[in-house]
Amino acid sequence: MEDAAIGNVDAVGDMLKKLSTLWKTRAAVNLDLPDYWGLAYDPTKSDFSELLLPFRDHPSWTAAPSELRSKVLSYAWAIYNLKTVYIECNVVTPACEDFIKAPPSSINRAAVQDVMSQVLLDEALHTRMSIMACNYIYEKNGIPPLEFVNFNLVQWRENLLSNCNADWERRLTRFAVACASETLITDYLKTMAEDNSIQPICHEVTRTHAIDEWGHSSVLSTVAMDVVHGLSNRERDYLRQVIVKTVQMFANNELGAWAKVFSMLQFAPGRDMLRDIGDTNEISVYTHSVETLLERVGLTRNEGNVSTLAEAADKREGALV
Ligand SMILES: [Fe+2]
Ligand SMILES: [Fe+2]
Repeated sequence: MEDAAIGNVDAVGDMLKKLSTLWKTRAAVNLDLPDYWGLAYDPTKSDFSELLLPFRDHPSWTAAPSELRSKVLSYAWAIYNLKTVYIECNVVTPACEDFIKAPPSSINRAAVQDVMSQVLLDEALHTRMSIMACNYIYEKNGIPPLEFVNFNLVQWRENLLSNCNADWERRLTRFAVACASETLITDYLKTMAEDNSIQPICHEVTRTHAIDEWGHSSVLSTVAMDVVHGLSNRERDYLRQVIVKTVQMFANNELGAWAKVFSMLQFAPGRDMLRDIGDTNEISVYTHSVETLLERVGLTRNEGNVSTLAEAADKREGALV
């Protein structure tokens, strides 16, 4: 059993090395990217996929004048990107820093630091792409920027961290939310990345981001495999619970951001519309991806591969990742 576990750790190391090599040729940060900000603005196209609006079928939305709908779609792009910026800066970056500053004490220590530092570089570029593309849309539409900071996913994560009682809980929380987010963000970006009917810059920027995030979901799940090897059953249970809870928060409709937009546009029916649709979007879009993640890293309930390593780790209380 122990030999098999060591073998798994070796296999994880091989995967991390392959992912690191792929990053050198595939990551946007290493490519000669087109000048997105120089792309022509097409006033006949929407700035966002209507399909993603949580109120797309609401009668107040379908009855709204087309000029207002067009402005709402421009701000939908802003909400989408601001939320992306918060995920990059407040969720993924802190987890990358944890692994860079204090990597796990496995044989894959250096490989984990290597891939997590690559992810950190990617997220800095994605943050830049998001703010540049937001400002492009504000400027081309002549609309004031959306100022909003209270995204529910970020607030919920902060609350979770403030209720942690030990460093190992805080560190596992940061990792669990980042790991789930990096799995779910591919689903989050998919519709826009595949929608050729929207504004060219919005489609192109999201497509470039989605390709990187496809790699990140593999990186984070492989790092999670390394992490899980060293956890006690109690710690594994905690990690699984936070990953599962993150799905719900990721799918949150962010009603506060929408309320701000409707107030800026003086769209009075917006308030009732938000009350009608409620807080939670289609979780089913994300559930499958997280189930796949939990299965891949050995965190499904009653997992048969809970190894002797976990049982040994259970004997030490409050172990760190
Ligand atoms: Fe990203
Ligand atoms: Fe990412």
